[in-house]
Amino acid sequence: MSGWIDACAQDDVPLDGTLLVHVNGEPVCLYNVGGEVFATHDRCTHASASLADGFITAGMIECPIHSGLFDIRSGKALTAPCTIDLKVYPLRVQNGRVQVQS
Ligand code: FES
Repeated sequence: MSGWIDACAQDDVPLDGTLLVHVNGEPVCLYNVGGEVFATHDRCTHASASLADGFITAGMIECPIHSGLFDIRSGKALTAPCTIDLKVYPLRVQNGRVQVQS
């Protein structure tokens, strides 16, 4: 398993918003859900929209293109047209920095 990779400052992820970062060249979307940060692959599994441009609602991310929903914590695809789950990344916060494991 690879190590922890510094992604950004915790304060860079807006409350109830998203931030696109790159980890080992992969686009990763960070989510701040009520002060807790989560990470999934950034690209929607339906047609590759950037989920960082989506909308957080009740612990889910709504894709900006066709409005499919994913569970932010598990990456599970919840509604059509999304049927393939998102990759989720282990994440920790250390000294105010968000670190992601890829
Ligand atoms: S690209 Fe995300 S639902 Fe179609």
